[in-house]
Amino acid sequence: MKYFSPVVTFIDERVPMRDFPFPAGPMGTLPVEYDTMGKIGLPVVSLPDGMEIRLAVRYSDVAAVLTDERFSRALAADLPGTGFGRNQRTGLLDLDPPDHAVLRDPLDRALAADRVERWLPSLRSLVHEQVTAFAAGDRPADLVRGFAAPVASRSICALVGLGVAAAADVATNIDEMLASGSAEARSTLRKAVEDLVTRRRAEPADDIATSLLELSDDDAATVLFGLLISGYVGNRNALARHVFALLAAPGADGVLPSLATRPERVGRVVDELLRYYPSGNDGLLRVAREPVWLSGVLLEPGTVVMPVIAAASHDPEVFDRPEVFDPDREPNTHVSLGRGTHRCPGDHLVRALFGIVLTELTTALPRLRLAIPASEVRHTDDLLPLGIVDLPVTW
Ligand code: HEM
Repeated sequence: MKYFSPVVTFIDERVPMRDFPFPAGPMGTLPVEYDTMGKIGLPVVSLPDGMEIRLAVRYSDVAAVLTDERFSRALAADLPGTGFGRNQRTGLLDLDPPDHAVLRDPLDRALAADRVERWLPSLRSLVHEQVTAFAAGDRPADLVRGFAAPVASRSICALVGLGVAAAADVATNIDEMLASGSAEARSTLRKAVEDLVTRRRAEPADDIATSLLELSDDDAATVLFGLLISGYVGNRNALARHVFALLAAPGADGVLPSLATRPERVGRVVDELLRYYPSGNDGLLRVAREPVWLSGVLLEPGTVVMPVIAAASHDPEVFDRPEVFDPDREPNTHVSLGRGTHRCPGDHLVRALFGIVLTELTTALPRLRLAIPASEVRHTDDLLPLGIVDLPVTW
C-alpha cells in the first residue's frame, strides 16, 4: 500500500489550530501547550510545511498509536516533506510488520537482557576510566564534551565491535553528518560498518556486529549504522539531560549523592529521569491504514498522527504531579522508551549504562554541581533527541 494523502476527519472548530512544534518549556522541559492539550483529545496542528496532523497526547492514545498495527510507520516514512520521520528510509523505524521483524529479531537477540548483563563489567570499567579522566581535569568543565559524549561514543563503538579506538572518529563523523548533512561523513561511517561486517564474516567475535550476521551485508550495515547514531547521539543527549535534572530539577536535591550508598534506588531514579526528560518533545509520525476510533474521534485511513511520548509520560491522569521529579515514583509506567513494534531495543542497555554512569559519577565526584545558574544552561532546540549544548560543572 502506498502513500495516502493526509485526511483530517473531524476538526473541532472551537479550538484554533496551532503551529507545531511548540517551544520547549523553561530549562528544557515540556512545552506548556501539553499541560492543557490532553483535554482537547486529539488536537489538530500544522507542521512548518503546512501539513495538518493530529497529535496524540493522552497516555492511552499514545500507547494505542504505538501498539495498534493499524497505524503504520512505513506509510509515514513515505509522506512528502521532511522531519518527524517523513521521507526517510533509514531502516527499522520505517518498516512495518512483517518486514520489520527480519531486521528486528536478530537485533533483539543482540541486545537482550542477558547479553547486557554480561557486558556490565566492561561497561563499568569504561565509565570508570572516563569519570577518572574527567575528575583529573580542570574545573569548571563541560560535562557534555568531557564525559557524556565520550561515554556514549566509546560504549556503543565497543559493543558494536568497532572498538573504543574508533569512537572519536565515529563521533566526529556523526556530528558532521547531523550538523551539515555531510555526504562525506555519511559515507565514511557507512564504509566503517560495511568493513566491520566483512571482518566479522571472516572472524566472528562477541559483539553486536557478529550477532547480525544472519542478515544480508547491506541490512547488517544499515542496522549497525542506526545503532551508532542512537547509541552516540541518543545516549550523549539523554545522559547530559539526566545529569542536569539531578543537579537542577525541583525534587532532585540530594538524590545524586544518595545513589553512592543506595544502589537499590538507582533503577527507579533512571526510570524517573527517562520519564521526566524524555528524548524529545515531538515524535515520529504514523498514518492510519484503516479507520480507527481514538478518544472519540474517527480517524479515516490516511490520517497522519504523531504520538507525543513526552506528553504521555507527563499525563496527569496517570502520573501524580507529573511536573515534579520524584526519585521514588512507583509504579512508573512511562513510555519514554516506546511501546509496541518499534519500542526501543536498546532499553536494557540504556537502563544498565545510565545506572552505572550515575553511580560512578557520584562516587568519584560527590560534590558535583552546576558551575552556572541552571537557567543559563543552554539546551538544544532541535527536534528529537533533545540535548544540552554544554553543561559547565564543578566539584
Ligand atoms: C536514553 C536513550 C534512548 C531513548 C530515550 C530511546 C528511545 C526510543 C524510542 C522512544 C523509540 C521508539 C520510537 C517510536 O516508536 O516512534 C526508540 C526506537 C529505537 N531505539 Fe532507542 N532510545 C535510546 C537509546 C537507544 C540506544 C542506546 C539504542 C541502540 C543501542 C537505541 C536503538 C533504537 C532503535 C534501533 C530503535 C528503532 C526500533 C524499531 O524500529 O524497531 N536507542 N528508542
